[in-house]
Amino acid sequence: MIITIDGPAGAGKSTAARRLADLLGFELLDTGAIYRAVTLAARQKNVAPEDDASLKHLLDQTRIELRPGEVLLDGEDVSSEIRTPEVTAAIQGFADSRLVRKIVTEKTRQLARGRSVVTEGRDQGSDVFPDADCKFYITASDEVRAARRHAELLAKGIRIGISEVLSSQRQRDLQDASREVGKLVCPAGAIVIDASRLSEDEVLTKLIEYLPRGIRPLDPRDHVKSLANDYLSQGDPLGWFDALYASAHRDTSKIPRADRRPNEHLMDWLDRQRIVGDGKSALVVGC
Ligand code: DC
Repeated sequence: MIITIDGPAGAGKSTAARRLADLLGFELLDTGAIYRAVTLAARQKNVAPEDDASLKHLLDQTRIELRPGEVLLDGEDVSSEIRTPEVTAAIQGFADSRLVRKIVTEKTRQLARGRSVVTEGRDQGSDVFPDADCKFYITASDEVRAARRHAELLAKGIRIGISEVLSSQRQRDLQDASREVGKLVCPAGAIVIDASRLSEDEVLTKLIEYLPRGIRPLDPRDHVKSLANDYLSQGDPLGWFDALYASAHRDTSKIPRADRRPNEHLMDWLDRQRIVGDGKSALVVGC
């Protein structure tokens, strides 16, 4: 089962894709993160985007993995490094390279094979998965996107004028829309969502509304099971715990155990042990 979400930078598609994947118990493929990881790897080894032979060699030797909330390059977590301004500024050459696009496209298809995924990028519904089960295109006005980006930068302490953000965003849009392969287009058959006046919750509600019949949000307990199985299959039996809390964004309804009631098995055990708590002190370990 494949759901694609494409759209320009800053329209809110990454958040929407992550929340939709969490809600459905699908895996998230953030393909922008793959292009970022390729760019970081090439910069670390001084490989230029035009040097196909060295790029191919490098990418044959490099392991890029997407984990919930993490991007690994040869096993090392590079989630922050791939989002530095230096990497962002250097992506274009690599995202324009036919060779890189071919390799990333193959990798994305391979990651999705036999799985249920929400895949997010610029060309997912058009080039990578033209036969996807459901395609979305999330966009927003230039001004709204620039204002959001500007607020994000200010929050990070980066002082920059909004007109500068707007002009660099227009340049990125132009790059994304004019590359020879994998350019940003609204894919045929995609449901278009204009997020200019919608909150993150409203975007999510719309996505759910337009999902094909048969794809429904998971019961939170099934979500936990699916998350735990994902991590187990990666040899990390405890990893799901942090991912669950991070993905809940402080919404306790998404954490099935956090129901603020004593666990029935514990109550039963206490009864059987004839342990009476009245007048006693206890150290409680749990949540
Ligand atoms: O979504 P993002 O900003 O993390 O993407 C990083 C860069 O990768 C951006 O310049 C567009 C490019 N990209 C692409 O060309 N094709 C994709 N499927 C995803 C991202």
